[in-house]
Amino acid sequence: MSNRARHIAIIMDGNGRWAQAQGKNRTAGHEKGAETVRRITTFCAENDEIERLTLYAFSTENWKRPKLEVEFLMKLLEKYLKNELKTYLEGNIRFEPIGDLSSFSPSLRKTIERVREETARCSGLVQSLALNYGAQDEIVRAANALLGRGETISAESLGHALDTNENVDLLIRTGGDHRLSNFLLWQSAYAELFFTDTLWPDFTTAEFERIIKKFKTVERRFGGLN
Ligand code: FPP
Repeated sequence: MSNRARHIAIIMDGNGRWAQAQGKNRTAGHEKGAETVRRITTFCAENDEIERLTLYAFSTENWKRPKLEVEFLMKLLEKYLKNELKTYLEGNIRFEPIGDLSSFSPSLRKTIERVREETARCSGLVQSLALNYGAQDEIVRAANALLGRGETISAESLGHALDTNENVDLLIRTGGDHRLSNFLLWQSAYAELFFTDTLWPDFTTAEFERIIKKFKTVERRFGGLN
């Protein structure tokens, strides 16, 4: 029996290099990257096996980037969510943000909340965007929430207190680097990891399908024996 890719998580890397290779500003790469977000999300929505797609859109460390790039990413995100509401609804896609949203502007927070509410009843793919997300920050926030409620910390209680408790089956990173960059560390405990040199704006559904096909042939043992 082959593996099922129920939950796919992606570290979308390489936007800046894609733009620079074309003599363009890094922000042009992010804009092109947003098109790949739409392409890959639509592909997942049309694939019955994939239930959840989690995309690393902005990390807790990304605030260290130049102010103009951060501002551009915030505007792009807001524009994307507003423009794509139709795509979410038509594709029966539920939008679920993860991360600490409290640092975002009131306007962006309102847009995030609106798309979340308007897609809450969609029953197809869950597209989760990791926004101001860092796995260490998520685990610390969860532990503090449990302590605040006087609860004991166990793998079960901590898992439930995280932004998401959905185990990742397949984690893909584009852009050539082989690291997890503080993304879904808890949930990826038994994820299969795939790395590709392709820069995120160039990532196609054909390559995505090839990775999923390869993932299906991997023997997953979850620490046991077969
Ligand atoms: C990494 O590329 C990408 C990001 C830090 C942001 C991800 C954003 C997008 C894919 C576009 C907008 C997203 C949505 C959901 C609309 P990088 O800038 O680190 O690339 P580099 O490694 O080549 O510099």
